[in-house]
Amino acid sequence: MSEIRILSPKLVSQIAAGEVVERPSSVVKELIENSLDAGANSIDIEIDHGGVTRIRVHDNGIGISKKDLSLALERHATSKINTLEDLTKIKSLGFRGEALSSISSVSRLILTSRVDGQIEGWQVYAEGHEMSFTLKPIAHPIGTTVEVFDLFYNTPVRRKFLRTEKTEFNHIDEIIRRIALSRFDVKINLSHNSKLVRQYRSINTKNNIKNEEQYKRRLAIICGDNFTRNSLTLYWVKDDLEIKGWIIRPNLDNNSKFQYYYVNGRIIRDRIINHAIRQAYADVLQEEQNLAYVLYLNIDPNNIDVNVHPTKLEIRFHQSRLVHDFIYQGLINTLKKQKNLQQCCQQYDQLIINKTQKINSIVGLQQNSVVKEKLFKSYNVDDCLFIKNNTIGTMSKFNKSNINSLSETDSLYYPNKVEVDNVIFSRERVEFDQKLLNNISERENKNIAISSFSIKQNYTFSKILTIYLKKFALIESYFGIGLLSLIEAKKYLKINQLIPADINKGLKIQPLLMPVKLILEDWEIDTFYRVKILLNKLGFDVNIFDSEIIIHGVSCPLRSQNMVIFFPKLLKYLSQNIFCQLYDLIIWIADQIINKEQVWTITNAMHLLIDFELIYPELIKKPPKKLIQIIDFQSTIAALTNE
Ligand SMILES: Nc1ncnc2c1ncn2[C@@H]1O[C@H](COP(=O)(O)OP(=O)(O)OP(=O)(O)O)[C@@H](O)[C@H]1O
Ligand SMILES: [Mg+2]
Repeated sequence: MSEIRILSPKLVSQIAAGEVVERPSSVVKELIENSLDAGANSIDIEIDHGGVTRIRVHDNGIGISKKDLSLALERHATSKINTLEDLTKIKSLGFRGEALSSISSVSRLILTSRVDGQIEGWQVYAEGHEMSFTLKPIAHPIGTTVEVFDLFYNTPVRRKFLRTEKTEFNHIDEIIRRIALSRFDVKINLSHNSKLVRQYRSINTKNNIKNEEQYKRRLAIICGDNFTRNSLTLYWVKDDLEIKGWIIRPNLDNNSKFQYYYVNGRIIRDRIINHAIRQAYADVLQEEQNLAYVLYLNIDPNNIDVNVHPTKLEIRFHQSRLVHDFIYQGLINTLKKQKNLQQCCQQYDQLIINKTQKINSIVGLQQNSVVKEKLFKSYNVDDCLFIKNNTIGTMSKFNKSNINSLSETDSLYYPNKVEVDNVIFSRERVEFDQKLLNNISERENKNIAISSFSIKQNYTFSKILTIYLKKFALIESYFGIGLLSLIEAKKYLKINQLIPADINKGLKIQPLLMPVKLILEDWEIDTFYRVKILLNKLGFDVNIFDSEIIIHGVSCPLRSQNMVIFFPKLLKYLSQNIFCQLYDLIIWIADQIINKEQVWTITNAMHLLIDFELIYPELIKKPPKKLIQIIDFQSTIAALTNE
């Protein structure tokens, strides 16, 4: 590693700024990443009291020379990048030159290190009011030790947010588990309160996933035998993209929940990757399954931006579409090639028969609400939106056993002017389950058509072929080629953001940096008093004095709105729609705040649709007319085929 330098102000301004020390596990992550960047292949981590009183990370990496030691604790001091160009091709885990200084500003940190060629080690720590550095010689092997005492001792507010010792340690354990899965060649020992709790032995191999037995041993230690035995090995390369790892066999009653992936060895979270994986499984599965996978994506560092978020947990792909399709293909290939797939399907079918027989026998015995509720759960009544007696909530908060007692008329009220099909769908779903309940005993002893139970859950829009007229996505989906209104999809997402999780409490208020003062006319004041409760539910924090109102806070989705314009407009709408219910208002607001002039690209359309699919899976099965129009090619085909 080159020497440590303070980054130029210009380069600093280009680096995603922000706090990285949230809790002890974030300290542990940063310190281990430093050890890995220093080429260590043995790392010992000692934790006391969940990391709150002491974290010690010792490595056998290249160390830090005496002259660089104090510099390492300075802000923006790093040996990993030096120029703006370096920022575009980062290979190391760290690059911001911030971690050690941030940690030492909220703890008592001691850094000890020795490099090859130095006869003794040196130790540095910040001391006194001025936090000046004290340097002293000390015996130390080649490598580095960082000790962090009394985390947040000088920031009591943050200390208050820490959970119990056990919870904090569990976070540390989890982060180390993830790191251990990313570097099989590194030995990692973890102790808690002087007791050795994890020992991940290193593997003597050059990161070759084909050398499977050894890999699988560590995999089994971390992810358990069940995952290891039931996973498929995946290896897929194309140009400079490579994906490898293990994925759970499809159609398996799986209870492993490991969903780990790495990009260039970096632990990240990414919606594009999540989506590609889900979509591949959705295309081969008969029914939803707990997914589990450990995947490593390797990509040319020039093609990603790791400088997105200070915690370095997010990246941006320059060609996200390409990466998405590459991952999808890698997975689908492995899943389909899987020789035992057919056999698994048979096992799965058997499973369904058993499950159905079990249900039949229960229903045959007692048709009470508890059983029905179980049935609802087993048939996946999803968290879809419902409105009953003008209140809004989600199915999950709704006592599902009540569904059967709702009559056609009082059941699911929905304002006519809203063309949203999800409630209609949920009614259909209720009817479906109702029929299921009524008919299920008739099916007893009959040869059940399994296929009618195994609803293929293809909750994705599949592919975006192109963007048409900057506002529409031409998509290829299971129902054919269609044109999707991105504005409409965006509106649905805004609606979702505007619906309070708890209808009684309403949306969370975000204080405005500068409260907004408005002078209202009489009719506006009347309207305001009439709709005050409704506005509270939407997160408006407003005080009124005579004809003057002060807006102190609004909900998150409205933060970017100019309240001087928006608020009077809102009052006008409410004065003209005196019977307006909360849901009407939400739809109106969503319509007002979306940017209808946005020019869409495939990448941001893809992000939008990924979110949409997660939030509204039901709408993909039965999309509203204003969202998607299927393109009928009949006349085009006729024109092409007629002589
Ligand atoms: N365990 C270690 N072994 C060798 N050098 C280290 C070690 N830890 C830190 N350093 C040196 O100290 C410097 C500062 O570390 P710090 O973690 O603050 O910044 P960084 O790793 O460069 O970037 P980031 O803030 O993104 O982690 C590193 O660039 C590296 O040169
Ligand atoms: Mg670092």
